[in-house]
Amino acid sequence: MSPPISVLYDAIRPEEKALVEAAKKKNIDLEMIDCKNLVIDLDKKTDFGTVIQRCVSYYRNLHSTAALEGAGANVINSLHTGIYAGNKLFTHMLLKNIGVETPYVTVAFSKDSAIGALDRLGYPRVIKPTVGSWGRMVTKLNDGEAADAIIEQREKMYPIYQVHFLEEFVQRPPRDIRAIVIGDSVAGAIYRNSAGENWKTNTHLGGTAEVCKITAELEDVCIKAKNAVKGQIVGVDLMESNERGLMVHEINNTTEYSNVARVTGVDIAGLILEHAKNAGK
Ligand SMILES: Nc1ncnc2c1ncn2[C@@H]1O[C@H](COP(=O)(O)OP(=O)(O)O)[C@@H](O)[C@H]1O
Ligand SMILES: [Mg+2]
Repeated sequence: MSPPISVLYDAIRPEEKALVEAAKKKNIDLEMIDCKNLVIDLDKKTDFGTVIQRCVSYYRNLHSTAALEGAGANVINSLHTGIYAGNKLFTHMLLKNIGVETPYVTVAFSKDSAIGALDRLGYPRVIKPTVGSWGRMVTKLNDGEAADAIIEQREKMYPIYQVHFLEEFVQRPPRDIRAIVIGDSVAGAIYRNSAGENWKTNTHLGGTAEVCKITAELEDVCIKAKNAVKGQIVGVDLMESNERGLMVHEINNTTEYSNVARVTGVDIAGLILEHAKNAGK
């Protein structure tokens, strides 16, 4: 008998449904655990074996991973990956160190220094929270007036939003790439085309998807990115810079993959379960 696999979730999205379906097809014993009902005694060894971490809430995800991993479970992805991939600044430094192209960024820790940096760097510039997803609060600063207003608001928010992460606005086709990496290969990839005039390509914002061919270059960049955060199953987001070619702008720790599965026809959920089964051996 293979060791048990659990899926830890806080919402049932198409990805979690697909895992349940794939487990039925593969005759894999899968335990669905609602993290909201979970109580963990930090000082006892856990009964959990391999846990596929699927919580949407950033804090619930990170802290339940820390608790379960510390108590002996094999959590996919690890706490290390959760911390580094969950933060765009941390990811940036790891990508740079491993030689993967990523947009140029300047970080500033007060309104005055951020405005000073923007005056020096010029506009447009993209400001984004170091922790966040679905394109929320990712904002294009077109001029000093916009920068002043946006940064003033962020200075009044939760401290994470007071870390002003200022990214070059990358010149690229009106699309980006989402690649799903499972273990040492890219399982599938899609282009996400911008919806209308929106410069952001998130499918949550209406971006449309089509198949992206997995070239040797794409595979190489994605595996390096996954290794940079010591990930096992990650979603790598890339842009095709007119100047510098493929660049990674984000690594998703608990990645959504239903669009990749739908558009490419690849059984991503099945591959995730196979990976988890082997990881538990
Ligand atoms: N520096 C940039 N230049 C041009 N477009 C960008 C840049 N950064 C992000 N985008 C666009 O905005 C989207 C959201 O940015 P991203 O960094 O992935 O944040 P999130 O984690 O919220 O998805 C990307 O998918 C891409 O389409
Ligand atoms: Mg993104």
